[in-house]
Amino acid sequence: MTVTAVAPGRVNLMGDHTDYTGGLALPMAIDLVTTVTGEIGGDRVELRSLDEPAPATMPLDITEPALVEPAWARYVAGVVAELAPTVGFTGTVSTTIPVGAGLSSSAALELAVALALGATADPSALSTLCQRAEQRASGVPCGIMDQLTSASGVPGHALLLDCHSLAVTPVPLPENVDVVVIHSGQPRRLAQSGYADRRRECEAAEAIVGPLRLLQDSTEVHGIADPVLRRRACHVVTENCRVRSFAAALSSGDMATAGRLMGESHASLTTDFSVSTPTVDALVRRLTTTPGIHGARMTGGGFGGCVVALTEPGVLSDGWTVRAGPGAHRLS
Ligand code: GLA
Repeated sequence: MTVTAVAPGRVNLMGDHTDYTGGLALPMAIDLVTTVTGEIGGDRVELRSLDEPAPATMPLDITEPALVEPAWARYVAGVVAELAPTVGFTGTVSTTIPVGAGLSSSAALELAVALALGATADPSALSTLCQRAEQRASGVPCGIMDQLTSASGVPGHALLLDCHSLAVTPVPLPENVDVVVIHSGQPRRLAQSGYADRRRECEAAEAIVGPLRLLQDSTEVHGIADPVLRRRACHVVTENCRVRSFAAALSSGDMATAGRLMGESHASLTTDFSVSTPTVDALVRRLTTTPGIHGARMTGGGFGGCVVALTEPGVLSDGWTVRAGPGAHRLS
């Protein structure tokens, strides 16, 4: 039987480094996708990628996804290890998502592989399975945002994610706004170690003041004596507030407020969370002073990588102009 499964990448509009504390985020699934197509059968998973020289090929009882070669096959292996399918699969992978651009090509690969291998399409179950697959494949203790977004996309809508309950609330995007993703040109250096450090720092802050997702404003973190931990906690608490305000601004088409909140988010990610870089900051500054741009901020994990801008239609010709598309699904 031929099976085809499709999963989108994502861009995050607001709420970075909040997901792993069970906080809020407002990403959207995009119209750039990864497709897996092939036949169920046999006792191995064998996938050829149209963009990679070497295939992903592995037995069904793979136990160490992080050791698999070539590197892209680790994400396939992570899914196989988590899903433990009893029947194999032979097929191909193709993608329209630029790899390494911060648009979650790895999450899209995981979801497309998982659906092709017969995983449930339930967004919570599918995304938590693929989050574990990503963690095992990459060694990075990532949150749920990328996988939950890819699983839950709604055309024309951003998604308000509650990363504690995994509730997803679609938020309509204004029609006359472009969402543009621009690569800073700076590879994401320190992304792995820096990300794990931030996550540990948030856990250390929570050991002092309790779950950050339950705090309403930054005065509640003033009791944290360590200045670094206090700043990390301050970012998370204020970023959760910004996600709520940003969702309201988008729904009412108030782009002035949405743009201002993007600027505040970027400043917080730079000064309190220390995950931006001078190159990314310079790009955000250039964009926010360009006429017709409502707002811009770094997006995703940081340490280099991409910036997202909301603009009047057609203002930016560099980068990828993306639309909000449907979530991961099987075509057959
Ligand atoms: C990466 C992770 C996500 C999230 C973002 C930052 O994309 O995979 O889980 O933590 O960074 O918001």
